[in-house]
Amino acid sequence: MIESLFSMQDKICVVTGGSRGLGSYMAQGYLEAGAKRVYITARKAEACISAAAELNQYGECIAIPGDITTSDGLQHLVSELISREQHIDVLVNNAGAGWGAPFGEFPEKGWDKTMNVNVKSPFFLIQALAPLLKKERHCGQHRQHYQYWFHCWDSRQRSR
Ligand SMILES: NC(=O)c1ccc[n+]([C@@H]2O[C@H](COP(=O)([O-])OP(=O)(O)OC[C@H]3O[C@@H](n4cnc5c(N)ncnc54)[C@H](OP(=O)(O)O)[C@@H]3O)[C@@H](O)[C@H]2O)c1
Repeated sequence: MIESLFSMQDKICVVTGGSRGLGSYMAQGYLEAGAKRVYITARKAEACISAAAELNQYGECIAIPGDITTSDGLQHLVSELISREQHIDVLVNNAGAGWGAPFGEFPEKGWDKTMNVNVKSPFFLIQALAPLLKKERHCGQHRQHYQYWFHCWDSRQRSR
């Protein structure tokens, strides 16, 4: 039961910022759990491509380098995904950035950079990929997982 609960069997996943850090760990985790394909993206093309090559030992990982904070970069990612996949099961908006500055000195440049990558890009990426995300084929399975968790929670509540 545990294995099937956490299985990513046959899932198509997209992890932004998958070239290093938490994003690359998520990509690896999805592949190890049986994902059919994982796409990763990041600005530094070489690092993105070599991360995908490294991740290929766990399953199929494809690099689509680009800057998702620009319209061109985001559109490139979206059109590559649309041309390759009929549907997407998982989108992880992991790419992000912080800006360290005291409150009184926080610059507009820092606000724009962090808001663009952390807020604006995820919104427009979800908007552009919504048609593919809505075609997700495993609703029944998700519902079963949810029902199982609810059943466990409910049984515990009742036994208290
Ligand atoms: N690590 C933590 O303790 C922690 C805690 C709280 C929240 N978070 C959040 O979790 C996420 C991942 O954290 P992390 O520590 O793994 O970050 P990280 O090591 O800095 O990795 C960020 C990833 O995002 C990519 N990226 C950044 N800007 C991008 C852009 N404009 N377009 C495309 N890709 C972009 C980076 O590649 P390029 O530089 O090549 O673009 C890299 O692959 C971030 O959103 C972060 O804010 C992390």
